[in-house]
This record gives sequence, C-alpha cells and structure tokens, in this order.
Amino acid sequence: MNRRHRERLAEGTAFAVKKLSLSSIPILAPDREQQFTTPGSQGVITAMDVVNHDQFQAWNGAEGAAWAKSPKQGENRGFTETCLRLIAIAGIGPEDRVLDIGCGTGETTLLAARQATAGGAVGVDLSAPMLRRARRAAAAAGIGNVVFEQADAQIHSFPEGSFDVAISMYGVMFFADPVAAFANIGRALRPGGRLAVVCPQQPEECGWYVIPVAALLGVPPAPRDVVAQYPGERPAMFSLSDPARLHDVLVRAGFADASVEPARLPQDFGRTADEAAETLLASGPTRYLLEQDELLSWEEARARLEAALKPYESSAGVLLPGAQWLVTAHAPGSLGKRRQLS
Ligand SMILES: C[S@@+](CC[C@H](N)C(=O)[O-])C[C@H]1O[C@@H](n2cnc3c(N)ncnc32)[C@H](O)[C@@H]1O
Repeated sequence: MNRRHRERLAEGTAFAVKKLSLSSIPILAPDREQQFTTPGSQGVITAMDVVNHDQFQAWNGAEGAAWAKSPKQGENRGFTETCLRLIAIAGIGPEDRVLDIGCGTGETTLLAARQATAGGAVGVDLSAPMLRRARRAAAAAGIGNVVFEQADAQIHSFPEGSFDVAISMYGVMFFADPVAAFANIGRALRPGGRLAVVCPQQPEECGWYVIPVAALLGVPPAPRDVVAQYPGERPAMFSLSDPARLHDVLVRAGFADASVEPARLPQDFGRTADEAAETLLASGPTRYLLEQDELLSWEEARARLEAALKPYESSAGVLLPGAQWLVTAHAPGSLGKRRQLS
C-alpha cells in the first residue's frame, strides 16, 4: 500500500476507522515482538505442515503469484470499502492483539495494526508470495507492530488465548474442515474474544463472479445457469455462503452470539474494462476457466470479458455487484477482563 492509498483508506470512508499518523505507531522492540509471534512457522512451511493441500498448492502456485503481483489489489474502491467494513465490525481497540486469518497481501492486517497502536497484529496465510508482499508493505509503511507468518490456520498451534480479536476478509471459506478450523481460531482467542469475518453471499448475489464467468462460458449472465455450468465442484469461495450453514459452523466450533448480517459492497478489478479483463484473467475462476478451455485463446477471453464489463465502467472504476455476509461472534468464556500483556 502506498502512502496515498493509506490516506484514502483512512479518509474516504463512512465507517468509524480511527485515523492515525504513522508516527504514532510504535516500532516494537525485539522482546515485544515475541508477543505477536506464534511458534512453529517462522521459516518456510512445507506440505507436511498443512492439511489443506490443494489450497497450499494453489496459493503458492499461479493463483498466489497472480494475487501477489497484481498492481490493482488494494487500490480499488470495492476492495478498500470491504477492508474498512471488516475493520469497523471488528471494533479493534488500541491495546488489542489481532489475528488476521488468510491475510493475503496484508492490507487488513496493516489496518488492524494501525488501530491497535499499543497492541499489534499477526497475519497468517498459506501463501509465501502473498506474505512476502505483505511484509514489504509493512516495512514500507514503517508499521512495526505487525508480524506475518505462513501457516495453515486450520491446524496451526497458535498460543492459546493470546489474541483479543480474530478477523478475516475472504480468508475462511477454503478450509477442508471449517468446524475444526474455527475451533482452532477460537482457541487462539482469549475467553470472550471477538471474531469478525467478511465472506461472500451466494454466487447468485455476486455479479463480480457471475458476469465474468458467464462471459467466458459464453452463456447469458443468469446466475443459476452460470453456477450450474461452471466445471467441477461449486467453488470453495462460496462454501460459507449459506447463512444457516455459516451460523451452524460457528456454533459447532464453540462460538457464541454469532451474528450474520448482509452487506452489499460492489467489487472492482480495475479502473477500466480492459484493465479489469486482464486482472480477471490472471486469477480466480476466470483464470481457471481459461486454463480449462483449450479452444479459448487469451485474446478471445480478454475481448469477451472487456465487452461484458464495459457497461459497469464508472468514474470509480468497473463496479460489479457484490453481496457479503458480515459475521461477528465471541469465543466462549467471560467477556470480561483481557489477559494482561506480559
Ligand atoms: C481470497 S484470498 C483473500 C486474501 C485477503 N484476505 C484479501 O482479502 O485480499 C484467500 C486467502 O486465504 C488464504 N488461505 C486459504 N486457506 C488458508 C488456510 N487454511 N490457512 C491460512 N490461509 C489460508 C489464501 O492463501 C489466500 O491468501
């Protein structure tokens, strides 16, 4: 994130995200940094350290490389508003220790760290290339109360009760065993600690998925047809899109007071249709479709996407309809006193 973008994140929002000057963020002394460092994943992890093997391969392969490289990631309006909405529902206080699950390139982790001025944030992710970009962004921003670690959040042994808040933007839908994963995250939280998650609603509500996928399948953007015709299984991205299932997973994982609220935040992938078309061909379901369809050239795919996205161009970028669940819950136990930082 560059300086201009950080300022836009702080200023261009209706949400109550505290504005901080960078000089107010403490650089942690090495002994203090230990507080935010979880054991076992300081080096590069291998397939032996994960149970979500397909995800590990994907996010360390073409998918992760594309996300890590994307110049637009973190620069567009839909992405920015979603980050800010997550930070708003997380209610991060100055002393909170925040765990960001599936942090990707770290934008939400850095925002959390800026809120937790006397605490800090740990971002965990499977993807080495995305974490490298996150660490570079933290260093460039001079944000010292943040640590990024490569780990499978489903099984990683986080120190028990060591976080006040766990957050995730689009990072919790990929677990092979979501109940086990959320239970593991719950153990990392102090008793009564908060969970705040943003995840997508059904594909039928997500034009950002249906419109480009329909264009590549060569079918009208009728959500049910597009979902039915997508090759293979229903994408993992939508595994928690049924609110009843989402609620059930959280309850079975031991969380209390689970709340699942709808939001409608459009998503964008570029400033213009041609820019968005190229971004979409580099990652996600559209990249996968292009890879699968031997008869579809990159040029033809790009032309089809550009035509489908053109009607959504606006002065704020190419905004495609998006609907999310804003999820909050508490780890079991007293909502009372936080554990003192040692
Ligand atoms: C859709 S991306 C979202 C990234 C980021 N939160 C954002 O919104 O830009 C999903 C992220 O979750 C990560 N992820 C998937 N499964 C994971 C797991 N079991 N443990 C940790 N991270 C995981 C992926 O590596 C990827 O970076």
